[in-house]
Amino acid sequence: MLRCGRLPSRSINITSTATQRPTRLIKRWIQLPSNPEGSRDAPLAFAFDIDGVLIRGSNVIPAAKRALSILEGNNPLKTKIPYILLTNGGGIGEAERCRRLSKELDFEIKETQYIQAHTILKIVVEKYADVPVLVLGGLNDDVRKVAQSYGFKRAYTPLDVKAWNPTYGPLTLLEAHNLTHIPSVWPFYDLTADELASTRPIDFSTTPIQAIFVFHDPRNWALDTQVICDVLQSGGIIGGPYRKPDIPIELVFCNPDLIWRADFERPRLGQGAFREAFQAVYKALTGAPYPHVQYGKPTTATYKFAEQVLRDRLAEMQGKPVKEMPQVYMVGDNPESDIAGANAAGWNSVLVQTGVYDPADGPPRHTPTHHAEDVEAAVRYAIEREIKRLAA
Ligand code: G3P
Ligand code: MG
Repeated sequence: MLRCGRLPSRSINITSTATQRPTRLIKRWIQLPSNPEGSRDAPLAFAFDIDGVLIRGSNVIPAAKRALSILEGNNPLKTKIPYILLTNGGGIGEAERCRRLSKELDFEIKETQYIQAHTILKIVVEKYADVPVLVLGGLNDDVRKVAQSYGFKRAYTPLDVKAWNPTYGPLTLLEAHNLTHIPSVWPFYDLTADELASTRPIDFSTTPIQAIFVFHDPRNWALDTQVICDVLQSGGIIGGPYRKPDIPIELVFCNPDLIWRADFERPRLGQGAFREAFQAVYKALTGAPYPHVQYGKPTTATYKFAEQVLRDRLAEMQGKPVKEMPQVYMVGDNPESDIAGANAAGWNSVLVQTGVYDPADGPPRHTPTHHAEDVEAAVRYAIEREIKRLAA
Protein backbone atom coordinates (compact mmCIF):
# COMPACT_ATOMS: atom_id res chain seq x y z
CA MET A 1 0.00 0.00 0.00
CA LEU A 2 2.91 2.33 0.82
CA ARG A 3 3.92 4.71 -2.04
CA CYS A 4 7.37 6.05 -2.98
CA GLY A 5 8.67 8.87 -0.79
CA ARG A 6 8.51 6.51 2.17
CA LEU A 7 8.17 8.32 5.50
CA PRO A 8 9.50 7.07 8.82
CA SER A 9 6.35 5.17 9.84
CA ARG A 10 6.80 5.02 13.54
CA SER A 11 8.81 8.05 14.75
CA ILE A 12 9.47 7.90 18.46
CA ASN A 13 7.45 5.51 20.54
CA ILE A 14 5.63 7.95 22.77
CA THR A 15 4.47 5.24 25.09
CA SER A 16 7.72 4.70 26.94
CA THR A 17 11.05 6.23 26.08
CA ALA A 18 10.11 9.89 25.83
CA THR A 19 12.97 12.04 27.11
CA GLN A 20 13.10 12.40 30.90
CA ARG A 21 11.62 15.85 31.23
CA PRO A 22 8.40 15.00 29.34
CA THR A 23 8.08 11.86 31.43
CA ARG A 24 8.14 13.91 34.61
CA LEU A 25 5.61 16.22 33.05
CA ILE A 26 3.43 13.29 32.01
CA LYS A 27 3.49 11.96 35.57
CA ARG A 28 2.42 15.36 36.87
CA TRP A 29 -0.22 15.43 34.14
CA ILE A 30 -1.67 12.07 35.06
CA GLN A 31 -2.08 13.25 38.64
CA LEU A 32 -4.31 16.11 37.49
CA PRO A 33 -8.00 15.63 38.46
CA SER A 34 -9.86 14.18 35.49
CA ASN A 35 -13.06 15.60 34.00
CA PRO A 36 -16.50 13.92 33.54
CA GLU A 37 -15.43 11.97 30.45
CA GLY A 38 -12.19 10.91 32.08
CA SER A 39 -10.21 13.55 30.22
CA ARG A 40 -7.86 16.20 31.55
CA ASP A 41 -7.67 19.50 29.66
CA ALA A 42 -5.85 17.89 26.76
CA PRO A 43 -3.04 20.00 25.27
CA LEU A 44 -4.25 19.13 21.79
CA ALA A 45 -7.32 18.14 19.81
CA PHE A 46 -7.85 16.56 16.40
CA ALA A 47 -10.10 16.97 13.40
CA PHE A 48 -10.07 13.92 11.13
CA ASP A 49 -11.10 13.78 7.53
CA ILE A 50 -12.89 10.49 6.68
CA ASP A 51 -12.46 9.40 3.04
CA GLY A 52 -8.81 8.58 2.44
CA VAL A 53 -7.88 8.91 6.13
CA LEU A 54 -10.14 6.57 8.17
CA ILE A 55 -12.06 4.86 5.36
CA ARG A 56 -11.57 4.05 1.67
CA GLY A 57 -14.82 3.20 -0.06
CA SER A 58 -16.26 0.42 2.07
CA ASN A 59 -12.95 -0.48 3.74
CA VAL A 60 -11.69 0.83 7.07
CA ILE A 61 -8.03 1.87 6.81
CA PRO A 62 -6.20 -0.34 9.39
CA ALA A 63 -4.34 2.58 10.98
CA ALA A 64 -7.68 4.24 11.82
CA LYS A 65 -8.62 1.94 14.70
CA ARG A 66 -5.09 2.15 16.13
CA ALA A 67 -5.23 5.95 15.96
CA LEU A 68 -8.61 6.14 17.70
CA SER A 69 -7.43 3.70 20.35
CA ILE A 70 -4.61 6.13 21.21
CA LEU A 71 -7.09 9.00 21.46
CA GLU A 72 -9.52 7.06 23.56
CA GLY A 73 -6.91 6.80 26.31
CA ASN A 74 -4.20 4.41 25.18
CA ASN A 75 -1.57 7.16 25.35
CA PRO A 76 1.11 8.41 27.79
CA LEU A 77 -1.20 11.15 29.04
CA LYS A 78 -3.62 8.37 30.02
CA THR A 79 -6.34 10.72 28.96
CA LYS A 80 -8.98 10.92 26.27
CA ILE A 81 -7.81 13.32 23.61
CA PRO A 82 -10.69 15.22 21.97
CA TYR A 83 -11.40 14.75 18.29
CA ILE A 84 -14.08 15.46 15.72
CA LEU A 85 -14.67 13.98 12.28
CA LEU A 86 -14.87 16.62 9.55
CA THR A 87 -15.85 15.25 6.14
CA ASN A 88 -16.99 16.64 2.79
CA GLY A 89 -19.03 13.49 2.50
CA GLY A 90 -22.72 13.22 3.43
CA GLY A 91 -25.99 12.11 1.89
CA ILE A 92 -27.59 10.57 4.99
CA GLY A 93 -28.47 11.94 8.44
CA GLU A 94 -25.71 12.62 10.98
CA ALA A 95 -27.15 10.20 13.53
CA GLU A 96 -27.31 7.34 11.02
CA ARG A 97 -23.78 8.05 9.74
CA CYS A 98 -22.44 8.14 13.32
CA ARG A 99 -24.13 4.81 14.02
CA ARG A 100 -22.47 3.26 10.95
CA LEU A 101 -19.05 4.83 11.68
CA SER A 102 -19.12 3.65 15.30
CA LYS A 103 -19.71 0.12 14.02
CA GLU A 104 -17.00 0.35 11.34
CA LEU A 105 -14.38 1.99 13.62
CA ASP A 106 -15.20 0.10 16.84
CA PHE A 107 -15.31 3.38 18.77
CA GLU A 108 -18.42 5.40 19.54
CA ILE A 109 -18.66 8.45 17.29
CA LYS A 110 -21.11 10.92 18.83
CA GLU A 111 -23.13 13.39 16.78
CA THR A 112 -21.43 16.15 18.83
CA GLN A 113 -18.12 15.19 17.23
CA TYR A 114 -19.29 14.70 13.64
CA ILE A 115 -19.61 17.25 10.79
CA GLN A 116 -20.48 16.40 7.21
CA ALA A 117 -20.61 18.65 4.15
CA HIS A 118 -24.23 19.76 4.63
CA THR A 119 -24.37 19.89 8.44
CA ILE A 120 -23.66 23.64 8.21
CA LEU A 121 -27.05 24.10 6.48
CA LYS A 122 -28.59 23.76 9.95
CA ILE A 123 -27.55 27.36 10.52
CA VAL A 124 -29.02 28.71 7.26
CA VAL A 125 -32.31 26.74 7.12
CA GLU A 126 -34.44 29.41 8.75
CA LYS A 127 -34.48 31.59 5.62
CA TYR A 128 -35.86 28.74 3.51
CA ALA A 129 -37.81 26.63 6.03
CA ASP A 130 -41.28 27.34 4.58
CA VAL A 131 -40.56 27.84 0.87
CA PRO A 132 -40.07 25.31 -1.97
CA VAL A 133 -36.42 24.34 -2.41
CA LEU A 134 -34.68 21.81 -4.62
CA VAL A 135 -32.27 19.42 -2.87
CA LEU A 136 -29.81 17.26 -4.79
CA GLY A 137 -27.35 14.44 -4.37
CA GLY A 138 -27.18 10.96 -2.95
CA LEU A 139 -29.63 8.12 -3.46
CA ASN A 140 -33.42 8.37 -4.00
CA ASP A 141 -34.80 10.89 -1.50
CA ASP A 142 -32.20 10.39 1.25
CA VAL A 143 -31.21 14.07 1.11
CA ARG A 144 -34.86 15.16 1.28
CA LYS A 145 -35.08 13.32 4.63
CA VAL A 146 -31.88 15.03 5.80
CA ALA A 147 -33.22 18.41 4.65
CA GLN A 148 -36.47 17.82 6.52
CA SER A 149 -34.50 16.87 9.67
CA TYR A 150 -32.78 20.28 9.40
CA GLY A 151 -36.14 22.09 9.05
CA PHE A 152 -36.67 22.45 5.29
CA LYS A 153 -40.43 21.80 5.09
CA ARG A 154 -40.82 21.91 1.29
CA ALA A 155 -37.80 20.06 -0.10
CA TYR A 156 -38.13 18.51 -3.56
CA THR A 157 -35.73 16.40 -5.59
CA PRO A 158 -34.97 16.23 -9.35
CA LEU A 159 -36.57 12.77 -9.17
CA ASP A 160 -39.82 14.45 -8.06
CA VAL A 161 -39.49 16.73 -11.11
CA LYS A 162 -38.90 13.76 -13.41
CA ALA A 163 -41.87 11.91 -11.85
CA TRP A 164 -44.01 15.05 -12.18
CA ASN A 165 -43.51 15.27 -15.82
CA PRO A 166 -43.31 11.71 -17.04
CA THR A 167 -43.75 11.07 -20.69
CA TYR A 168 -47.37 10.13 -19.92
CA GLY A 169 -48.62 12.42 -17.11
CA PRO A 170 -51.59 12.00 -14.78
CA LEU A 171 -54.96 12.72 -16.44
CA THR A 172 -55.41 16.06 -14.68
CA LEU A 173 -52.39 17.42 -16.51
CA LEU A 174 -53.37 15.89 -19.84
CA GLU A 175 -56.82 17.48 -19.84
CA ALA A 176 -55.37 20.79 -18.70
CA HIS A 177 -53.02 20.80 -21.65
CA ASN A 178 -55.30 19.07 -24.22
CA LEU A 179 -52.33 16.95 -25.04
CA THR A 180 -52.16 13.23 -25.81
CA HIS A 181 -48.86 13.06 -23.98
CA ILE A 182 -46.62 15.55 -22.16
CA PRO A 183 -43.01 16.21 -23.18
CA SER A 184 -40.71 14.85 -20.44
CA VAL A 185 -38.45 17.17 -18.39
CA TRP A 186 -35.62 14.75 -19.30
CA PRO A 187 -36.52 12.23 -22.04
CA PHE A 188 -33.27 10.21 -21.85
CA TYR A 189 -33.80 8.52 -18.52
CA ASP A 190 -36.56 6.50 -16.85
CA LEU A 191 -36.78 6.34 -13.08
CA THR A 192 -36.00 3.06 -11.38
CA ALA A 193 -38.74 1.57 -9.22
CA ASP A 194 -36.92 2.71 -6.05
CA GLU A 195 -36.49 6.23 -7.39
CA LEU A 196 -40.16 6.45 -8.42
CA ALA A 197 -41.21 5.15 -4.99
CA SER A 198 -39.12 7.92 -3.37
CA THR A 199 -40.89 10.71 -5.27
CA ARG A 200 -43.64 13.10 -4.17
CA PRO A 201 -46.52 14.10 -6.47
CA ILE A 202 -46.18 17.87 -6.81
CA ASP A 203 -47.17 20.24 -9.63
CA PHE A 204 -44.00 22.22 -10.34
CA SER A 205 -45.88 24.50 -12.74
CA THR A 206 -47.35 26.16 -9.64
CA THR A 207 -44.42 25.64 -7.23
CA PRO A 208 -41.78 28.40 -7.50
CA ILE A 209 -38.43 26.94 -6.36
CA GLN A 210 -36.64 29.65 -4.34
CA ALA A 211 -33.30 27.98 -3.63
CA ILE A 212 -31.22 25.00 -4.73
CA PHE A 213 -29.03 23.02 -2.31
CA VAL A 214 -26.58 20.41 -3.60
CA PHE A 215 -26.21 18.39 -0.41
CA HIS A 216 -24.18 15.45 -1.68
CA ASP A 217 -22.54 14.02 -4.83
CA PRO A 218 -25.23 13.83 -7.56
CA ARG A 219 -25.86 10.39 -9.05
CA ASN A 220 -27.52 11.58 -12.27
CA TRP A 221 -25.50 14.56 -13.56
CA ALA A 222 -27.57 14.91 -16.73
CA LEU A 223 -31.04 15.00 -15.09
CA ASP A 224 -29.75 17.20 -12.25
CA THR A 225 -28.06 19.66 -14.62
CA GLN A 226 -31.23 19.92 -16.74
CA VAL A 227 -33.47 20.52 -13.73
CA ILE A 228 -31.16 23.14 -12.16
CA CYS A 229 -31.02 24.99 -15.51
CA ASP A 230 -34.84 24.82 -15.76
CA VAL A 231 -35.25 26.33 -12.29
CA LEU A 232 -32.68 29.11 -12.83
CA GLN A 233 -33.69 30.05 -16.37
CA SER A 234 -37.45 30.06 -15.65
CA GLY A 235 -37.39 32.09 -12.47
CA GLY A 236 -38.19 29.02 -10.34
CA ILE A 237 -41.16 27.68 -12.33
CA ILE A 238 -39.85 24.59 -14.15
CA GLY A 239 -41.06 24.55 -17.74
CA GLY A 240 -42.21 28.17 -17.45
CA PRO A 241 -41.07 31.00 -19.71
CA TYR A 242 -37.43 32.05 -19.29
CA ARG A 243 -37.40 35.04 -16.99
CA LYS A 244 -35.40 36.62 -14.16
CA PRO A 245 -37.04 35.96 -10.78
CA ASP A 246 -37.93 38.99 -8.61
CA ILE A 247 -35.65 37.57 -5.89
CA PRO A 248 -32.49 35.78 -7.11
CA ILE A 249 -32.66 32.02 -6.62
CA GLU A 250 -29.83 30.96 -4.27
CA LEU A 251 -27.62 28.11 -5.52
CA VAL A 252 -25.63 26.36 -2.77
CA PHE A 253 -23.01 23.64 -3.13
CA CYS A 254 -21.91 21.82 0.06
CA ASN A 255 -18.75 20.05 -1.12
CA PRO A 256 -16.15 21.61 -3.47
CA ASP A 257 -14.04 18.46 -3.94
CA LEU A 258 -13.08 18.00 -7.58
CA ILE A 259 -11.70 14.56 -6.69
CA TRP A 260 -11.84 12.25 -3.69
CA ARG A 261 -10.52 8.83 -2.79
CA ALA A 262 -12.82 5.81 -2.80
CA ASP A 263 -11.61 2.21 -3.18
CA PHE A 264 -10.72 2.53 -6.88
CA GLU A 265 -6.96 2.82 -7.54
CA ARG A 266 -7.15 6.44 -8.68
CA PRO A 267 -9.16 9.34 -7.21
CA ARG A 268 -12.80 9.73 -8.36
CA LEU A 269 -14.71 12.81 -9.49
CA GLY A 270 -16.50 14.58 -6.65
CA GLN A 271 -19.27 17.14 -6.20
CA GLY A 272 -16.90 19.90 -7.29
CA ALA A 273 -16.57 18.23 -10.69
CA PHE A 274 -20.38 18.23 -10.99
CA ARG A 275 -20.38 21.95 -10.12
CA GLU A 276 -17.80 22.64 -12.84
CA ALA A 277 -19.78 20.61 -15.40
CA PHE A 278 -23.06 22.34 -14.48
CA GLN A 279 -21.50 25.83 -14.61
CA ALA A 280 -19.97 25.08 -18.03
CA VAL A 281 -23.40 24.12 -19.39
CA TYR A 282 -25.11 27.09 -17.74
CA LYS A 283 -22.49 29.47 -19.13
CA ALA A 284 -22.89 27.96 -22.60
CA LEU A 285 -26.65 28.53 -22.32
CA THR A 286 -26.67 32.01 -20.77
CA GLY A 287 -23.24 33.49 -21.38
CA ALA A 288 -22.13 33.44 -17.72
CA PRO A 289 -21.83 30.96 -14.82
CA TYR A 290 -24.51 31.27 -12.11
CA PRO A 291 -23.26 32.86 -8.86
CA HIS A 292 -23.25 30.23 -6.15
CA VAL A 293 -22.51 29.82 -2.43
CA GLN A 294 -19.88 27.23 -1.54
CA TYR A 295 -19.65 25.35 1.76
CA GLY A 296 -17.43 22.44 2.73
CA LYS A 297 -13.67 22.18 3.34
CA PRO A 298 -11.61 24.37 2.69
CA THR A 299 -14.18 27.17 3.05
CA THR A 300 -13.80 29.54 6.00
CA ALA A 301 -17.48 29.06 6.89
CA THR A 302 -17.00 25.31 7.37
CA TYR A 303 -13.79 25.64 9.40
CA LYS A 304 -15.37 28.30 11.61
CA PHE A 305 -18.37 26.00 12.09
CA ALA A 306 -16.00 23.11 12.88
CA GLU A 307 -14.03 25.20 15.40
CA GLN A 308 -17.28 25.87 17.27
CA VAL A 309 -18.29 22.18 17.18
CA LEU A 310 -14.83 21.26 18.52
CA ARG A 311 -15.07 23.88 21.26
CA ASP A 312 -18.50 22.53 22.28
CA ARG A 313 -17.11 18.98 22.24
CA LEU A 314 -14.22 20.01 24.52
CA ALA A 315 -16.68 21.68 26.90
CA GLU A 316 -18.82 18.54 26.82
CA MET A 317 -15.78 16.37 27.69
CA GLN A 318 -14.42 18.72 30.31
CA GLY A 319 -17.78 19.59 31.82
CA LYS A 320 -16.96 23.30 31.72
CA PRO A 321 -16.64 26.07 29.12
CA VAL A 322 -13.34 26.12 27.25
CA LYS A 323 -11.20 29.10 28.15
CA GLU A 324 -8.40 28.53 25.65
CA MET A 325 -8.55 26.21 22.66
CA PRO A 326 -5.73 23.66 22.62
CA GLN A 327 -3.52 23.07 19.59
CA VAL A 328 -5.77 21.68 16.84
CA TYR A 329 -4.44 19.12 14.33
CA MET A 330 -6.35 18.52 11.08
CA VAL A 331 -5.45 15.14 9.55
CA GLY A 332 -6.40 14.85 5.87
CA ASP A 333 -5.60 13.23 2.54
CA ASN A 334 -6.60 16.11 0.26
CA PRO A 335 -4.31 19.18 0.14
CA GLU A 336 -6.99 21.28 -1.57
CA SER A 337 -9.63 20.80 1.11
CA ASP A 338 -8.11 19.45 4.34
CA ILE A 339 -4.70 21.15 4.35
CA ALA A 340 -5.65 24.45 2.68
CA GLY A 341 -8.59 24.91 5.05
CA ALA A 342 -6.70 23.96 8.20
CA ASN A 343 -3.76 26.23 7.32
CA ALA A 344 -6.14 29.13 6.70
CA ALA A 345 -7.88 28.43 10.04
CA GLY A 346 -4.55 28.60 11.86
CA TRP A 347 -4.67 24.92 12.76
CA ASN A 348 -1.83 22.43 12.45
CA SER A 349 -2.24 20.22 9.39
CA VAL A 350 -1.00 16.68 8.70
CA LEU A 351 -1.16 15.23 5.17
CA VAL A 352 -1.40 11.44 4.93
CA GLN A 353 -0.65 9.14 2.01
CA THR A 354 -3.67 6.83 2.24
CA GLY A 355 -5.98 8.86 0.02
CA VAL A 356 -5.95 11.52 -2.71
CA TYR A 357 -2.43 12.83 -2.12
CA ASP A 358 0.34 10.78 -3.77
CA PRO A 359 3.93 11.98 -3.20
CA ALA A 360 4.73 10.61 -6.67
CA ASP A 361 2.69 13.59 -7.96
CA GLY A 362 5.21 15.98 -6.39
CA PRO A 363 4.84 18.42 -3.52
CA PRO A 364 1.24 19.39 -2.63
CA ARG A 365 -0.07 22.86 -3.61
CA HIS A 366 -0.77 23.52 0.09
CA THR A 367 2.11 22.72 2.46
CA PRO A 368 1.08 20.84 5.59
CA THR A 369 2.68 21.26 9.03
CA HIS A 370 3.76 17.62 8.63
CA HIS A 371 3.59 14.68 6.21
CA ALA A 372 2.66 11.30 7.69
CA GLU A 373 2.27 7.82 6.25
CA ASP A 374 -1.18 7.32 7.77
CA VAL A 375 -3.51 8.58 10.48
CA GLU A 376 -1.81 6.62 13.26
CA ALA A 377 1.59 8.11 12.42
CA ALA A 378 -0.11 11.53 12.29
CA VAL A 379 -1.58 11.11 15.79
CA ARG A 380 1.71 9.88 17.23
CA TYR A 381 3.56 12.81 15.68
CA ALA A 382 1.11 15.39 17.09
CA ILE A 383 1.07 13.97 20.63
CA GLU A 384 4.85 13.75 20.73
CA ARG A 385 5.11 17.32 19.45
CA GLU A 386 2.74 18.66 22.11
CA ILE A 387 4.45 16.73 24.89
CA LYS A 388 7.73 18.29 23.79
CA ARG A 389 6.10 21.71 23.57
CA LEU A 390 4.81 21.29 27.16
CA ALA A 391 8.21 20.15 28.30
CA ALA A 392 9.96 23.09 26.66
O1 G3P B 1 -17.89 12.88 -1.21
C1 G3P B 1 -16.93 12.92 -0.22
C2 G3P B 1 -15.61 13.33 -0.66
O2 G3P B 1 -15.68 14.45 -1.47
C3 G3P B 1 -14.55 13.54 0.38
O3 G3P B 1 -14.86 13.23 1.64
O4 G3P B 1 -14.20 12.65 3.95
O5 G3P B 1 -12.43 13.09 2.27
O6 G3P B 1 -13.79 14.95 3.12
P1 G3P B 1 -13.77 13.50 2.81
MG1 MG C 1 -10.52 12.82 2.32
